[in-house]
Amino acid sequence: AKKVAILISGGGSNMEVLARDMTGDHPARPCLVLSNDPDAGGLARAAALGIPTAAIDHRTFPDRAAFESALLTRLAEDAPDIIALAGFMRILTPGFTRAWQGRMLNIHPSLLPLYKGLHTHARAIDAGDAQAGCSVHEVTAELDDGPILGQARVPVLPDDTPDTLAARVLIQEHRLYPAVLRRFAGGDRTRLDLPPVVNIN
Ligand code: GAR
Repeated sequence: AKKVAILISGGGSNMEVLARDMTGDHPARPCLVLSNDPDAGGLARAAALGIPTAAIDHRTFPDRAAFESALLTRLAEDAPDIIALAGFMRILTPGFTRAWQGRMLNIHPSLLPLYKGLHTHARAIDAGDAQAGCSVHEVTAELDDGPILGQARVPVLPDDTPDTLAARVLIQEHRLYPAVLRRFAGGDRTRLDLPPVVNIN
């Protein structure tokens, strides 16, 4: 099976659904969950799933290049075939992204190319968008750019706050990311657009 390293910074809910999907006939298995934050809740979740974990605290390095060099060194120990960024909140330099281009995926909580970067849900609400959603894409040197492998959409409701919209989108992240990773690990890079969700909260 292909080996997948999952990079996180936070609670790891996407990491968990990816890991839970990688059993049986899935073409990949998780080999490592790596966090830049030693206190990330996702590390305990990964350990509970029996997945090896590592923390490489970016704050202990003098600069981004030194941090990324440590990341690459740790990753090389497990020699993953694929890196899945799952709520990994450090910007990666072109040196890192080039090394993994074509083998690294990210999930972003917007309908890319809209709202790259942070505060995606507040920006969608402020823009008066009727729909929001999430995207899984291949990681390239440009932030939140790269070929889109799949999207899922939700309605933006009149009383939405960034938090209520984020919760609605996160449910779709948990459907989309495992489906895309499964296809990607099996060599299918064609785009997967989940049917729009209607009649929800
Ligand atoms: C997810 O909503 C993910 O799309 C987002 O962080 C959250 C992580 O949640 N990622 C980004 O904003 C990347 N810039 P999780 O730790 O529970 O998976």
